[in-house]
Amino acid sequence: MAKAQRSEHGEWSSGLMFVLAATGSAVGLGNLWRFPYQVAQNGGAAFVFIYLLCIMLVGLPIIVAEITLGRRGKQSPINSLRSIAMAEGVSRYWTLLGWLGVASGVLILSFYSVVGGWTLYYTAQAFTGAFQGMGVEAASEMFGGLTASPWAVVLWHTLFMLLLFGIVVVGVRDGIQRTVTLLMPMLLVILVLLVGYGMAASGSFNEAALFLFQPDYTAVTPDTFLTALGQAFFTLSLGLGAIMVYGAYLPQNESIPNSAAWIVGMDTATALLAGLAIFPIVFAAGMDAGSGGPGLVFKTLPIVFGEIPFGVILAILFYILLAAAAITSGVSLLEPATAYLTEKGGSRLVGAGSVALVIWLLGIPAALSQNIWSDLKLPGGQGIFGTMEFVSTTIMLPLGGLLIALFSGWFMRSASLAKELGVNPGNTLYLLWLFAVRFIAPLGVILIFLNSLGVFGG
Ligand code: PHE
Repeated sequence: MAKAQRSEHGEWSSGLMFVLAATGSAVGLGNLWRFPYQVAQNGGAAFVFIYLLCIMLVGLPIIVAEITLGRRGKQSPINSLRSIAMAEGVSRYWTLLGWLGVASGVLILSFYSVVGGWTLYYTAQAFTGAFQGMGVEAASEMFGGLTASPWAVVLWHTLFMLLLFGIVVVGVRDGIQRTVTLLMPMLLVILVLLVGYGMAASGSFNEAALFLFQPDYTAVTPDTFLTALGQAFFTLSLGLGAIMVYGAYLPQNESIPNSAAWIVGMDTATALLAGLAIFPIVFAAGMDAGSGGPGLVFKTLPIVFGEIPFGVILAILFYILLAAAAITSGVSLLEPATAYLTEKGGSRLVGAGSVALVIWLLGIPAALSQNIWSDLKLPGGQGIFGTMEFVSTTIMLPLGGLLIALFSGWFMRSASLAKELGVNPGNTLYLLWLFAVRFIAPLGVILIFLNSLGVFGG
C-alpha cells in the first residue's frame, strides 16, 4: 500500500500547531470543572497521586501510541485503523476499534456540550456582574434556574454545538488551527493570572497546596482508582481517536515523543494550576469544596466571586477561560466522525453538519435529565446525564485505550512503529515505551477494572 504524504484533510502548519491543538483538546472541562471537584470528593492529594500515576504509566504511553497510529494512517480513526491493519497483515476487525472511538466521541460530546452551554451562560452572566453580593441561595437559584429550565439548557447547548460546528466546518487549518492559535495563549495567561491572585490575595494558598499535595490514603477505595483512571483518559482526550485524528494531521518530519511530552505536561500542569486557582479562593471564603460536587465551579465559585475584591473581573476571566477550554476540546470531539464522513465522499459541510446534528439530538435527553426527566433512573441507579458520563468516560475510554495499546504493542510490527516514531528499534527510550504499551498500560487498565468489580475483595 502506498502511503499518502499528507492527510486529505490538510495538515497543521507546524509541530507547534499540533501541540497547541492537541493541548487545546486535552485542556478542557476535564481540567477546570471535573478535576477540582473529583479531587475534593475523593479526599484530595491521595486522589491526585493516583491520578498522576495513571497519567504517567498509562496515559503517556497510550498518547504516544495514538499519535503514532494517527500519523501512520493519516485518516479518520476508522479508516486509519483499517489501513494499518491491512498493511500489517492483521485482522480487519480492528476497524471496529475506530468505531468504538467514534461512538465514544459522539456520546461524550452530547453531554459535554450541555456543560459547554452552561459555560457560555455563566460567561454572559459574569459580564453583567450578576454574581455581585450573591449569597449561597442566589447562587444555587441561578444554577438551579438554568438547569431546571428545559428551554434554557437546550438553548445554550444548541449555541455551543453551533459554535463547534462553525469552527470544524471551516477545516483543519482555517477552522481548528486558527481557533486554538487565538484561544490557547489567552487561556494560559488567564490561568496564570488566577493562580497569581489565589497566591497573593486569598491568604489560603498554603491550605490549598496541602489539600492538593499532602495525601491521606485512608479515603482511598477501589472506586478511587477507577475514577482516577477514567479521569486520566478523559483529561488527555485518550481512547477515542481524538488525538489520533489530530495526529493524522501532524507533518511527517515532526517528533511524536516530544509533542506527546508537551501535551501531557501542559495538561497536567493545567489541572494542578486549576486546583491552585480555585481551592485558595474557595477556602478563603470559608466554603467547602467537596460538598457541591459538579456544582463547584457553577455554584460555589460565583458566591466567592461575588465577595472578593476584583470579583467582577476575576469572574469574567474565569468563565471565559472555562468556555474557551470547552470549545477547543469540543472541536476535537467533533472532528473524528466528521473526518470519517468526509472520507466517505461527503463535503465537510455535510459531514460536520450531520455529526453535529446527531450529537445535538443526543444532548437533549442529557439536558432534560436535569429537569423534566430528573426522576428517571437508568440501570445502575444514575440519571441519563450521569449514565452517559459514566459509561463513556469510565468504561469506553479506558477500554478504547486498552485496545489501542494492545493493537500497537502486540499487533503492529516493531519496525513500523519505530519508523513512524523516527527512532531506531534499539533505542532505549523506544524500548521502554514499547514495554509500557505492551505490559504496563494494558495491565494497569485491566487491574483497575477488576479491582472496581471487587475481584480483589474491595
Ligand atoms: N480532554 C477534554 C477535557 O479535559 C475532554 C475530551 C475528552 C476531549 C475526550 C476530547 C476527547 O475536557
